[in-house]
Amino acid sequence: MTVNLDPADWAALRAQGHRMLDDLLDYIEHIRTRPVWQPIPDEVRLSLREPLPEATSDLAAVYEQFKRNVLPYATGNTHPGFMGWVHGGGNPAGMLAEMLAAGLNANLGGRDHMPIEVERQIARWMADLFGFPDTASGLFVTGTSMANLLGVLVARNAALGAASRSAGVAGHRLVAYTSKAAHGCIAQAMEISGLGGAALRLIPTDERHQIDLTALKLAIAIDRRDGLTPFLLVGNAGTVDIGAIDDLVSLADIARCERMWFHVDGAFGALAMLAPDLAPRLAGIEQADSIALDFHKWGQVPYDAGFFLAYDGEKHRETFASPAAYLRREARGLAAGSPWPCEFGPDLSRGFRALKTWFTLKVHGAARIGGVISETCAIARHLKACVEARPELELMAPVALNIVCFRYRAADADRLNAKIVADLHEEGTVAPSTTVLGKGLAIRAAIVNHRTERRDVEALVERVVALGAEATRAAA
Ligand SMILES: Cc1ncc(COP(=O)(O)O)c(C=O)c1O
Repeated sequence: MTVNLDPADWAALRAQGHRMLDDLLDYIEHIRTRPVWQPIPDEVRLSLREPLPEATSDLAAVYEQFKRNVLPYATGNTHPGFMGWVHGGGNPAGMLAEMLAAGLNANLGGRDHMPIEVERQIARWMADLFGFPDTASGLFVTGTSMANLLGVLVARNAALGAASRSAGVAGHRLVAYTSKAAHGCIAQAMEISGLGGAALRLIPTDERHQIDLTALKLAIAIDRRDGLTPFLLVGNAGTVDIGAIDDLVSLADIARCERMWFHVDGAFGALAMLAPDLAPRLAGIEQADSIALDFHKWGQVPYDAGFFLAYDGEKHRETFASPAAYLRREARGLAAGSPWPCEFGPDLSRGFRALKTWFTLKVHGAARIGGVISETCAIARHLKACVEARPELELMAPVALNIVCFRYRAADADRLNAKIVADLHEEGTVAPSTTVLGKGLAIRAAIVNHRTERRDVEALVERVVALGAEATRAAA
């Protein structure tokens, strides 16, 4: 008996593979005709429960199970009606590239092979986009949560020197600053890095949800007076709740004067650099020491494709590079090509995320992706206008980019709007999410997907008004 996992019948595998590819292309082509999301029936959820399979199964049979029980119950972020959280729509070229990457099964931790050059090329493109020098470094990671963690770690290393990698941070009282509107993964990065969540100062924001610069300067002064060491300032280029962009020029200035590392969380907002009408709003980002961003959000690359960019590649490398005999470098052969990506982050084995990103950027071009980004903001402005035109609805926050927060007016607005959103999810036409802002719970529509059109946000408004009126009548 052979234990080789390749098929005995390549022709049959080829035919089955073509069917699977065709089905997925059909799925994407006709995605609008499906519900955005649908509840998972118990029997479907239970259908996967079985002991670890000992025996072989036919690929076609396993695929049928996928088609029946997995595919119809996905998140739905490929659908034009998906507006929840901050999810990109993916794109077919990126999907095909992911198949090619899986075929190559490349490990981008290191060694001398062309897939790493693809990743390096994307790092060069990003360095150019943000005005960083040739000595900048870039690395694919899972997402911005991980890229922000890298930012904290590189900043810690820059503050304490490479010796802190073995000595640890004991005896140093490092403090970091960001705004109250920052994503929770920044506090989590402080926790994971051992600096402690309490060492992150969450500075108040103004009415536009931008960090209050006076409060920031005051917090830094108080910490210095108390003998602490401010080491990191995190600016936001598109806050998760409403898409606010901090005054990055002023933050860069403060970071420079205070000798702090300036990191920008640009999870989705950083790629607004591709949109000529939005790029000026990111002024100051070019002065960052590091930037975290996701290609899987506004960049429309299939999940996952986060990216970390550092202005000073050497400082980045110093944070992670760990020589090991079994990773010895050579001047020639497969072990050449140093430095290897594994020197720039905690992962040794790494997949080929760069390929789907390279295909997406090459096939569609940066201008077209920028056009998508710009258009999602125009659709958000249209949604804002639709909300303002309905007396039953209340806008809950300024619309800075592509996110609109609003709610149905009611006495028990928090409960009612949470119900409306859950009803919308189950109806399957549009799927926003919720957040809690100063005034309470808001329906939050983040227009990220390139497939979303004006009619989708109009449908959102119509359904919210109808469900709100229905619930209000039922309660009367
Ligand atoms: C501003 C911001 N930062 C960080 C993140 C986390 O990114 P990821 O989900 O890619 O880890 C998000 C996610 O929406 C975000 O909007």
